[in-house]
Amino acid sequence: MNMPKVLFVSSEIAPYAKTGGLADVGSSLPKALKSAGADVISVMPLYSSVNREKFNLTQVFQSACVHMGNCEEWYSVYKASLSGVDTYFIEFSKYFDRSGIYHTKAGEYADNAYRFAFFCRAAMQTAKDLKFKPDIIHCNDWQTGLIPYYIRKEEDFFFNGSKTVITIHNIGYQGIFGADVLEYARIDIADFHAESFESFGGVNFLKGGIAYADKITTVSPSYAQEIQGETGGGGLHKLLSYRKYDLEGILNGIDTEEWNPAADSYIPRNFTAETIHLKKDNKLALQKRFMLTPDENVALFGFVGRFAEQKGLNLMRYAVEKALDTMVCQFIIIGSGETEYERYFGELPAKYPSRAGSYIGYSEEAAHLLEAGADFFVMPSLYEPCGLNQMYSLAYGTLPVVRATGGLDDTVKNYNEQTGGGTGFKFNLIDGEALYNTIGWAVSTYYDRPAHIKQMRLSAMKENFGWEKSAARYIELYKSITAV
Ligand code: ADP
Ligand code: GLC
Repeated sequence: MNMPKVLFVSSEIAPYAKTGGLADVGSSLPKALKSAGADVISVMPLYSSVNREKFNLTQVFQSACVHMGNCEEWYSVYKASLSGVDTYFIEFSKYFDRSGIYHTKAGEYADNAYRFAFFCRAAMQTAKDLKFKPDIIHCNDWQTGLIPYYIRKEEDFFFNGSKTVITIHNIGYQGIFGADVLEYARIDIADFHAESFESFGGVNFLKGGIAYADKITTVSPSYAQEIQGETGGGGLHKLLSYRKYDLEGILNGIDTEEWNPAADSYIPRNFTAETIHLKKDNKLALQKRFMLTPDENVALFGFVGRFAEQKGLNLMRYAVEKALDTMVCQFIIIGSGETEYERYFGELPAKYPSRAGSYIGYSEEAAHLLEAGADFFVMPSLYEPCGLNQMYSLAYGTLPVVRATGGLDDTVKNYNEQTGGGTGFKFNLIDGEALYNTIGWAVSTYYDRPAHIKQMRLSAMKENFGWEKSAARYIELYKSITAV
């Protein structure tokens, strides 16, 4: 059976560069596609934060070139390999030799439109220079949104037959810029209209990507529905409904090598469903690390994530404090982002010493320890395209407390008080009180029905969130649009 050749393009790929779940998918999906038999290579920008020594980057092309606007942009290409997947890096200091990926504390980079228009062209050119003729170019989010257009317009025989898929990881980020980029990006003025890139006079990269891609996917079935509605579509619901026969929600998987309680090297005690009693050693280590009272019998809640409105931080702010005031519980919050939340959660431990802990920053190690040691994982997102943390939690027998939206709704089964069935605790309303009540529900279950908690942990750990099924679905989708 023939398998498609896939050029996977992403602005983030873990562990090279990561701001969120896109990077996790950027590494685990190509790996899964490869395991399923596809021929895959990945391309990303070479940000200065990528550790060239650690990942053993080697130069492939010293001087490659693309035409942007009226100029030629000369750049180099590097390569690294991890888990059998080759990743190619676009080195172009003018755009990528900076401290941040998209922004600094001072705000977004003013030339992001130019940076990623260039990246789209350079990613395609890299395939060409490598003589890697893709059946599929798999694009991810707005940063790659010009590629489907370029492929439609491409006159070069090399891309004859190449089809494009764009995956929407988060419709909240569309890449909307001034029309000044049209010339540099070489978007024909005739193609700048309301059915393609144009949006209130600006250029919307994601919109153009959706308009020109052969297939559109997003990262959970529920989110695929939500974005077709006015509330969830971020202004693109009409276009998405129009393209609904080419739109599919394919649930993200998780990297079960990276997130495996039986083999996780970040945690002090490995465990499985059979040895779940060992989980408490991680809990004690976690409490110690965050200077909480070490107590294996107190309900311990955790949060890890970007401090962005999307994640329901306002609800958290209300509910966490009220829960600490009224219930026997502990909280640990890990994250970074908006200053207001950094300040608030940074100060929480001083207000509730030995009961609240926080780490303001990014720490892979602390995130793993929290997933392994906490009893409950809170994720009250206003919307959530897929969400990975709740799946990591489930794999570690840590029960998610989630708002029933997008991928959270698709992956967490609500607790049934009669039977002890389910894998977590869900609520619907975007409301701090609703979150508080659901935390209360988890707390009372923890103390009053411990047998149910145990049963839920085991059910959670039995769920399979590996990539196999979803990777197979992507391959079917690729095959439906190629000659392979
Ligand atoms: P999103 O992509 O919207 O941020 P996801 O749940 O899909 O949400 O993915 C978030 C990823 O980023 C997870 O791998 C999570 O562990 C990680 N992450 C986010 N913030 C931090 C942090 N402060 N420290 C460690 N890991 C983090
Ligand atoms: C986005 C979404 C998140 C999803 C991730 C990977 O950042 O916010 O829900 O899990 O992309 O697809």
